[in-house]
Amino acid sequence: METRDRFNRPLRNLRLSVTDRCNLRCQYCMPEEHYTWLPREHLLSFEEISALVDAFIDVGVDKVRLTGGEPLLRRDLPALIRLLAAKPAIGDLALTTNGVLLAEQAEALRAAGLQRITVSLDTLNPERFTALTRRHDLDRVHTGIAAASSVFGALKLDTVVIREVNDRELIALVEYARTVHAEIRFIEYMDVGGATHWTREAVVSRAEILETLEQHYGRIEPILERHSAPAERFALPDGTTFGIIASTTAPFCADCDRSRVTADGMWFRCLYASEGTDLRAPLRGGASRDELSGILRTGWQQRADRGAEARLASRTREPLVPLSTLKSNPHLEMHTRGG
Ligand code: GTP
Ligand code: 5AD
Ligand code: SF4
Repeated sequence: METRDRFNRPLRNLRLSVTDRCNLRCQYCMPEEHYTWLPREHLLSFEEISALVDAFIDVGVDKVRLTGGEPLLRRDLPALIRLLAAKPAIGDLALTTNGVLLAEQAEALRAAGLQRITVSLDTLNPERFTALTRRHDLDRVHTGIAAASSVFGALKLDTVVIREVNDRELIALVEYARTVHAEIRFIEYMDVGGATHWTREAVVSRAEILETLEQHYGRIEPILERHSAPAERFALPDGTTFGIIASTTAPFCADCDRSRVTADGMWFRCLYASEGTDLRAPLRGGASRDELSGILRTGWQQRADRGAEARLASRTREPLVPLSTLKSNPHLEMHTRGG
């Protein structure tokens, strides 16, 4: 049954983080040396996640995206995918990954019932990749993308654009995306928890991204479609499509139908929310499916979050959460919330 929040937004899209661990250290997400990890015994089992998803289905969810940290670090992820793919109410089952472990897993993910893959790729330059991620894994990411492209036929690439880091690579990335049958989406750098090095100056806006691409390719046409996905899509003169996710300068809160659950079962109704609802306690306390969906229904009906819009309205913009607060509450981290 569909449930609406205080701004009449339905809940349809669930982002499930299956681990808070990551094998990269991207500057816009995990720039620090040390992190506080979720206690292992708090991580939900696949059966617990599956039970939660059933409750989310009861309040309207029909799209699930698995995220991390890096979700492919979770042991035997295909077993979870099989459980979720068996639910007829879930019409869309997707995964966001950094691609490092994708080559060895793409086939098994597809066989388990995964429908779509998005790979994060911010640069094609090996030195820059290492500076951005503090790891030397660009070759593995390329191999992973090639494997996903051949196993799934198509995929999406996500690029966070940061001034004086990768903003001169937009055209090279569009060209690369074509060669691997991917639709690329350029994402504005967001001041979410975890982005402790964020500055307003480092944000490259949708307008600037479009201008850069237009100078090279000529006229760009917006693709008009009604949806609640964060990306607006555009077409180049030759028909190549790409997306822009302008969460920082043009938030999509008015149409936001998404929720997030962390690997330890904390439910957040907004990427920017400071407070979540603990679902692990009722789940482990033996709550029934109806009791769980009752918690979700009540929680969603009370939702009034418009986090990105509120950030846009605040005039003194600094990183959202101070480092000391992040250390004491890892739930505020983007890598815990699932990117
Ligand atoms: P599809 O369009 O269904 O393929 O998926 P998606 O765009 O939701 O998934 P993806 O994980 O690729 O998200 C892309 C990026 O959009 C994220 O990494 C974030 O940078 C941004 N984003 C995702 N969810 C939210 C959200 O709830 N709020 C805001 N402000 N930004 C988000
Ligand atoms: N700004 C924008 N996107 C971010 N992500 C993580 N941190 C940020 C940020 N500060 C998103 C990116 C990345 C995914 C894993 O999480 O899209 O590809
Ligand atoms: Fe949704 Fe919050 Fe993101 Fe706005 S900031 S789009 S309400 S998750």
